[in-house]
Amino acid sequence: MRTPVFAANWKMNKTAHEAREFLSKFKTGLSGNSEVVVCPPFTALGVVLDECQSTPIAIGAQNGFHEASGAFTGEVSMAMLHKEGVTHVIVGHSERRDIFGETDGLIQLKISAALQLGLTVIFCVGEHLDVRESGGAMALVESQVRAGLNEIVAAEFGHGASLILAFEPVWAIGTGKVATPEQAQDVHAGIRDVLSALYGADVAERIRILYGGSVKPDNVAGLMEKPDIDGALVGGASLKVEDFLAICQPVY
Ligand code: PGA
Repeated sequence: MRTPVFAANWKMNKTAHEAREFLSKFKTGLSGNSEVVVCPPFTALGVVLDECQSTPIAIGAQNGFHEASGAFTGEVSMAMLHKEGVTHVIVGHSERRDIFGETDGLIQLKISAALQLGLTVIFCVGEHLDVRESGGAMALVESQVRAGLNEIVAAEFGHGASLILAFEPVWAIGTGKVATPEQAQDVHAGIRDVLSALYGADVAERIRILYGGSVKPDNVAGLMEKPDIDGALVGGASLKVEDFLAICQPVY
């Protein structure tokens, strides 16, 4: 039985002050059986870490660089995040791939660096609409999974404990067009097959696979009914306390 995970990806939203306001309400309302991760922008990480001390809420970054330190203007390293108390990091989000040109090779370096520090990686994969329409979604997702995990062995992610996959079809992100539970389940089951081929069935069974792309309070239950959907990576709906609570409160 996999514990569900709900991760808030705030993207480039919320000042430190707004983050504090959100969390002071959110943490008092939170219950349920799921793991909850909040991923604010870098500028709000300090406040969020402070607000979430002694709560079950885990804190994640939305990105991190694989080198530990040095002349990398504008970057924040995985090592720096780890030192500050961050426990999770999103890697390979489609916005990083598409807007900032992140390649599968760079994503692999980031995953490897984060895992070596003991960070839990939320590794995102997903296809664009043209790929889905041409029938190539699963092949593309498989190639992303294999490339991102290239040369990474199961011991590096605690045989499942510190690796979370997130299937995020790009056409569903921020568009209001959620994948149907069946469309998502098909790809999730396919990802689990790939993980099984790479690491064996036991490890694959332990890895949580989240769905992301226009998850809202009114569509999350249908997604969570599917056997290979283990939670959600939530953008827009995670910015409102009531909506994110409604998504991660129920006992799944
Ligand atoms: P969305 O974003 O929920 O706003 O579609 C999800 C994501 O990009 O992680």
